[in-house]
Amino acid sequence: MKKTIRDIDVSGKRVFVRVDYNVPMNAELKIVDDTRITATLPTIKYLIEHNARVILCSHLGRPNGQVDPKLSLRPVLARLSKLLDRPVSFAEDILDKSTIEMVDKMHDGDVLMLENIRFYKEEDENDEKFAKYLAGLADIFVLEAFATAHRKHASTYGVAKLLPSAVGFLVEQELLIFDKVLNSPDHPFVAILGGAKVADKLPVIENLLDKVDTILIGGGMAYTFIKAIGGNVGISIVDNTKIELASEILDKAKEKGVKIILPIDNVGAKEFCEDAEAKLFNSGFFADDYQGMDIGPKTIKTFKKVIKKAKTIVWNGPLGVYEYEKFKKGTNKIAKYVAKSKAISVIGGGDSVAAIQSLGVAKKVTHLSTGGGASLMLLQGKKLPCVEVIDDV
Ligand code: 3PG
Repeated sequence: MKKTIRDIDVSGKRVFVRVDYNVPMNAELKIVDDTRITATLPTIKYLIEHNARVILCSHLGRPNGQVDPKLSLRPVLARLSKLLDRPVSFAEDILDKSTIEMVDKMHDGDVLMLENIRFYKEEDENDEKFAKYLAGLADIFVLEAFATAHRKHASTYGVAKLLPSAVGFLVEQELLIFDKVLNSPDHPFVAILGGAKVADKLPVIENLLDKVDTILIGGGMAYTFIKAIGGNVGISIVDNTKIELASEILDKAKEKGVKIILPIDNVGAKEFCEDAEAKLFNSGFFADDYQGMDIGPKTIKTFKKVIKKAKTIVWNGPLGVYEYEKFKKGTNKIAKYVAKSKAISVIGGGDSVAAIQSLGVAKKVTHLSTGGGASLMLLQGKKLPCVEVIDDV
């Protein structure tokens, strides 16, 4: 069990809270979805109420160690300040002595936000000197950046190693729910896997084979499986280096009595674009010049039946090309069925979470994970390095 902020005395202490405010923004730098900010409010409010001096640190985007005004955290600062209904000060140049002065002048209950930590190349390199400098700003480290917990960076892993540490409420909640579904799930346990990158999902399937009853596969990853069983997928996305492994996994599933259900029909198109003409195919019987863009109606119906009976559902990845309106039908239908189900449902990954949110049914699912890569790592049966380094109770 990892320490949480309830287990430590934060009163009068400088608490370095690593959050993940890597939020989507539009061209006018307006925040499109503030879930990752609101998700950290209980921790920040708790720390304020318990008289801590809160230093927030986050990245935004991938500036690769360069200052990029488009990736400044200023818009996040404004939103956070509004949500907390109190002023939050801002340290623009983390390495400048003005930042140390600002920290020194903080009073109990004050909140300070640092500028985008990835403006410094030392962050991604997990530079020891940089981590020491950051640790010097605080007395305690709190990990609240679940979505970055799979990255060994200076402000996540490095600082945690140097200070007494704990996890915040968001990380605690994420870990508890993944622990429940992966280690003591109610059955039938159904995993729904999609997305284009089959290489990321094969280790997930391998890990889940000892836990689940059924795996529903859709999205771009399905075509590697369909090819592995001898189907013609036309010009659909296929990872030829993974066909053999996909085939072995199908055999292993059979041995273990786990049902892997591949699409029965697919919506295909000649071109990969929004206004491409759509044509329905039986999966494995594509015309040579067509590619799969979504799951078809028979597949949706089959998946619906399985979802309806599930007591635990884990879903990661879209079932079709979610960025195109025309090809998001399968993903949206599945989102609707998952939301309707009475199962414990845990959803991770940008597009699957977006589908749930766009349908306004977020409250009907048990848990929308804030982490894509991090949740995938847990589903693969791996540990998150930045969690592992946190002090135990
Ligand atoms: C995310 O959005 O998945 C996290 O913020 C991690 O971002 P990264 O993939 O750029 O490290």
